[in-house]
Amino acid sequence: MGQDGRVLDYDDEARRYDATRGGEPRARAAAEAGERLLPQGPCVVLDIACGTGIVTRRLSRPERTVVGVDRSPGMLGLAARRLPEGVVRGDATRLPFAADAVDAVVIVWLLHLLEDPLPVLAEAARVLRPGGVLITTVDKNDAYFAEDSDVARATADLRRHYAPRVPDRSSLVHRWASERGLRTAGRTAFPGTGQGRSPREWREVIEAGLIPWCTRAPRNEVAEVCRRLAALPEQDSARPDPLYRLVALRA
Ligand SMILES: C[S@@+](CC[C@H](N)C(=O)[O-])C[C@H]1O[C@@H](n2cnc3c(N)ncnc32)[C@H](O)[C@@H]1O
Repeated sequence: MGQDGRVLDYDDEARRYDATRGGEPRARAAAEAGERLLPQGPCVVLDIACGTGIVTRRLSRPERTVVGVDRSPGMLGLAARRLPEGVVRGDATRLPFAADAVDAVVIVWLLHLLEDPLPVLAEAARVLRPGGVLITTVDKNDAYFAEDSDVARATADLRRHYAPRVPDRSSLVHRWASERGLRTAGRTAFPGTGQGRSPREWREVIEAGLIPWCTRAPRNEVAEVCRRLAALPEQDSARPDPLYRLVALRA
């Protein structure tokens, strides 16, 4: 889904994906964070919904086999250039891998796109060997507000009242994990370097209908928040970069 809630055509999105999602700095930060949670030494890592492979490539190590899977041929075509022998086309709900086949699964920025993340989590758990680790991003919509700021304070009420119940919410992922007997093995975060927005940019994305907790809120309340954002100092200074969260669950 795009920021406005429409389902994105990733085949079409592929050509602008890297440039519009933080590029190499975001990929480097995501891979470094993933590395803190991944097993070290010889192992097989499956990156589900690898997209253009911009993060996947950075998980490669001489002693580690890394495979990316994605259902979009457009995204996968770019990933294949980065990992010539390491990508497979497939759907995350029906992975083309045997049970217990991999030591670790990485899922970066997929769950928030799904109507129901549980079939994907169940499939990830199926291919994971006992003792393996499932690493996924959670709570993507909260990333911009991980740190306190005047923008976070100006928007807090609206977010509290109108934020949708997103599929990548950590409460759902942890509940699923505990019902399946997976335990939390770690947490970390990575910055969306350079993605912080100024108050003016926040007003622009709100007015363009791109922010879910605004599209669901009464117009007068949204207008009031835009007024508050317009009254903040340093209208063109970016506020903190978003901080994207990763959790690790052990099978
Ligand atoms: C936001 S991108 C994330 C790509 C990559 N993980 C990254 O962080 O750069 C989401 C990706 O999920 C893929 N995707 C969406 N639904 C999928 C599914 N059911 N099975 C496999 N891939 C899926 C899309 O094709 C797209 O490449």
